[in-house]
Amino acid sequence: MLVLEKSRIYQGTLILVNRAYPVRCQQPKQELCSPFPEQAQIMMEQESARMLKKLLREVLTNDLVLSGKQGVLLQHGNAIVGVSGYRSREEQVEIFENSLLENGRDFTEKYVAFPDHSEHQTGLAIDLAENQPQIDFICPEFPYQGICQEFREKMAEFGFVERYPKAKQKITGIGAEPWHFRYVGAPHAALMAELGMVLEEYIEWLKQFDLKKHPCILHRRREEVAIGYVKAKGDYTRIEGLEALAGRIRKAWQMRNEAKNRTERFRIKISGNNVDGFICTCRMGTQA
Ligand code: DAL
Ligand code: ZN
Repeated sequence: MLVLEKSRIYQGTLILVNRAYPVRCQQPKQELCSPFPEQAQIMMEQESARMLKKLLREVLTNDLVLSGKQGVLLQHGNAIVGVSGYRSREEQVEIFENSLLENGRDFTEKYVAFPDHSEHQTGLAIDLAENQPQIDFICPEFPYQGICQEFREKMAEFGFVERYPKAKQKITGIGAEPWHFRYVGAPHAALMAELGMVLEEYIEWLKQFDLKKHPCILHRRREEVAIGYVKAKGDYTRIEGLEALAGRIRKAWQMRNEAKNRTERFRIKISGNNVDGFICTCRMGTQA
């Protein structure tokens, strides 16, 4: 059994940050790092940075192999660039106020989150752009074609989602932002994509899967997954049933895979949802 303090509701890769749910826990600056070899000033939370780096390497290298030209190495190596990663509260205030002056209130509220309500303050979000001579800081170009689309096609595998799709503006409260990506981790990014849900919807959907009584079990090609929700109770919440669930996942994987695969891994991860509880994820398999 595990006991979690209330403050843990506000931490983890699945926290929902929007107009209704502010950032409650500051990301420690010393735990930030850059996913970009040539843009050290653009930082993210460590796990998100590591996964974005892997994703970019995969997308940009694939593109190179497909193009079959050595000469394009440099060009393709930085075909996608970072525009904005982690922001302190002060930076978000400055961006919001400058945009109010330059673009007016309607535009600003559509494309810039209120201070303390921005995912950028968590270190889990990144704005990306197609590398061009002129890049707009608030609305960079990240088209639904070419290398940028290749990035989108791969991103779920690495735990990223496009956070503000056009069709979900009413739910997210933010205009369409094809350039803003959010790390939620695997297997959640793929599941969100399959369900066609944004984080607001997904956090609600997960609540039906009580960890002890009715967890969500997924049989993936490369792994067995169990996801369970636990509602927080008071200052300390007891997480019960995790060991049993973990055992079930291990067993199911082993039954599917008689020969032991040396690259298989077992992982348990707990994240707050920034609303009212915790999401526990158990994975057993060969997934990255
Ligand atoms: N552009 C997004 C909504 C932000 O400012 O966090
Ligand atoms: Zn953004």
